[in-house]
Amino acid sequence: MERPCLSRRHALLIPATAAGLGGLAACAPEDQGFGTAEPLRGQDDTIPLSEIPEQASTLVNFGGQEPFVLLVRGTGEDVVGYSGYCTHNGCALRQEEAELDCPCHGSRFDAATGDVLAGPATRQLPTVEVAVEGDVVRRVR
Ligand code: FES
Repeated sequence: MERPCLSRRHALLIPATAAGLGGLAACAPEDQGFGTAEPLRGQDDTIPLSEIPEQASTLVNFGGQEPFVLLVRGTGEDVVGYSGYCTHNGCALRQEEAELDCPCHGSRFDAATGDVLAGPATRQLPTVEVAVEGDVVRRVR
């Protein structure tokens, strides 16, 4: 997959895992990382594929228990999901261009791969299973 670039418009939404949500409870509301941007909201566990730009990363809210997922789309149906919560202590990440930055202690992650760019986090963002089904992206539980 060619490394996606990020559009500013879609640079402010987020992913989750059970571990990330556990740590999220320790974060203050102002550390949610969303700034003034509204997450791209889907219905239940789906979101229209047409709303996810190619060659970009987009934070989406699928709804439910673990709503925020960073979708990295290459071309066509090439879509991968990552948690949007820091692997250090679970704070919601903020997307800044090609990085996800943690407002709590300064960790940085590559928004296209989930790799750690700077600590204190040492673990890559976990993947979140998603599947393209027709014209929607579905979060797989
Ligand atoms: Fe993200 Fe500590 S919770 S760096």
